[in-house]
Amino acid sequence: MSERPRRTAVLISGSGSNLQSFIDRAATGAIGLELCIVLSNRPDAFGLTRARKAGIPTECLEHGDYPDRESFDRAVAAVLDAYDPDLIVLAGFMRILSPWFVQHYAGRVLNIHPALLPAYPGLDTHQRVLDAGEKWHGSTVHFVTEELDGGPRILQGRLAVDAGETADELCRRVQAVEHQIYPQAAQWFGEGRLECRDGATWLDGELLSEPVVTDFS
Ligand code: GAR
Repeated sequence: MSERPRRTAVLISGSGSNLQSFIDRAATGAIGLELCIVLSNRPDAFGLTRARKAGIPTECLEHGDYPDRESFDRAVAAVLDAYDPDLIVLAGFMRILSPWFVQHYAGRVLNIHPALLPAYPGLDTHQRVLDAGEKWHGSTVHFVTEELDGGPRILQGRLAVDAGETADELCRRVQAVEHQIYPQAAQWFGEGRLECRDGATWLDGELLSEPVVTDFS
């Protein structure tokens, strides 16, 4: 465990169920992270209510108020930096980040994507997986780079697709997996076990050429 909890900023756009999984794990004291700020680009994001209930400071910046992507990202970073974060956690933050933002926090931004990357980057993953008749689906925690959904992978949770299930049902099962794997990967960071170096993931001093995979079937 590192000496002090890593200060962690969580960026959201919506429900914030992944944020809740961090709040719940942080309450156990096990995660090695201090949630120092939750920032949303949408004022009606339910995750802001979750954060306030947990006593975490909140901020909202609406991207429509800024002329372009980078000026919004610079404003977000100015807010975040006032909280001196060690780690930035994207938890359903539905914005593509500018290269400036990614470089500003190089190696310190985590994302969760609802697919077994590199398969199915982008949107609408659950329906696309069903349409393709895939046997397996899941979610991936990865470091963020300038390539959308393309940064070094850390941890995947996978599950078998059930015959006849709908995209909504699959989404719910994948989200339950996310609530396990995302705080777990962040905890590794909090414990000083996880880093992004030379464009790759390192866990316990070992280069991870493939992500750690946990089967939730
Ligand atoms: C999560 O399922 C996450 O994987 C997805 O948004 C959802 C947010 O849910 N993220 C992306 O699609 C990013 N490309 P939440 O607000 O309940 O945590």
